[in-house]
Amino acid sequence: MADVQVESVSRSFGAHKALDDVSIAFPDGGFYALLGPSGSGKTTLLRLIAGFDFPDSGRIIIGREGVERVPVEKRRIGMVFQNYALFPNMSVADNVAFGLSVRGESKASIAREVRQALDLVQLGKLGERRPHQLSGGQRQRVALARAIVTKPRVLLLDEPLSALDKALRVDMQVELKRIQREIGITTIFVTHDQEEALTMSDRIGILRDGRLVEEGPPEDIYNSPKSEFSATFLGDANILRGDATGDGIRLSDGTAIVASGGVANATGGKASCAVRPERIKIATATASPLAAEGNMLRGRVSKRIFAGNSSTYFVDRMGEVIKVHVQNSGATKIEEGNDVVLHWSPESTVLISAA
Ligand SMILES: Nc1ncnc2c1ncn2[C@@H]1O[C@H](COP(=O)(O)OP(=O)(O)O)[C@@H](O)[C@H]1O
Ligand SMILES: [Mg+2]
Repeated sequence: MADVQVESVSRSFGAHKALDDVSIAFPDGGFYALLGPSGSGKTTLLRLIAGFDFPDSGRIIIGREGVERVPVEKRRIGMVFQNYALFPNMSVADNVAFGLSVRGESKASIAREVRQALDLVQLGKLGERRPHQLSGGQRQRVALARAIVTKPRVLLLDEPLSALDKALRVDMQVELKRIQREIGITTIFVTHDQEEALTMSDRIGILRDGRLVEEGPPEDIYNSPKSEFSATFLGDANILRGDATGDGIRLSDGTAIVASGGVANATGGKASCAVRPERIKIATATASPLAAEGNMLRGRVSKRIFAGNSSTYFVDRMGEVIKVHVQNSGATKIEEGNDVVLHWSPESTVLISAA
């Protein structure tokens, strides 16, 4: 059962279509990531769901109720932004209490709910501090406590972690997930960070130029993207292009690439194959041959980047570069300039329409 639904929502600013006929069902209690490059319409969609802005056409449904005409304060939404504007002259506890105070709740019940919310974000001991006495991560927790203390039906998060440095961001990702699970609130999380979307969400919707171009669980999109755009935007991908053969493509030099996943392309036209760098096996051309895996290409290592637990090989083949990702498990490394053979299976190959 979807808790929040947007149906055929469009929103233009002047001649610019910020959202173009977008429909998404956000599952009840789920963690949904809206992913897309800057300017793709993510914030616009979140603002429409919150009620800060209104669609030109289409419906927004929360619970079972169409809320297009419901003002923001009546939608029972909690929101956290990248720039979590806390009131600088108020204590942490008063910041969190703000939404309850304006509702006119009793002092005792406000104090109890604020304490619960601060405990939930693990700031129970810091209620008396001012925002400037907190770290960036702690301030973001206060913003989160303030958003959930009013017991909203939906939590909307607009790039809430992007102002934090990398290590803190990873901590907060884990923390945010824990809190979301604990209270089971339907959450819509906007990010342009594909790793964040992959690791945190139950479902991902990818926006591009105001359109929803891909939708589904992270693993499904990662394993069988429908377009070159989503293949390269969510994770890393090699894109090979050629003539469609029905079950794959034929490259310009005649090499056939076979794919077992993806759209069934008619022969005659152009098509692409996407292959994840970690799915490709690499060996020096002089080594004993690898067990054949269906797809095979030859090339030369032009560059190798060592990244501690893994290495990335850049393999040149007729002016194109194929990336191969290898775990550094102690096997002898392959030097730059070596001729290599690349192998991967049809199951690791996704056939997609040409861009
Ligand atoms: N109030 C507005 N007035 C004019 N253009 C806007 C307004 N809000 C957003 N836009 C435009 O709509 C597009 C989508 O913006 P936005 O939803 O903020 O993107 P994102 O959050 O994905 O980066 C952008 O081209 C942006 O410039
Ligand atoms: Mg935005």
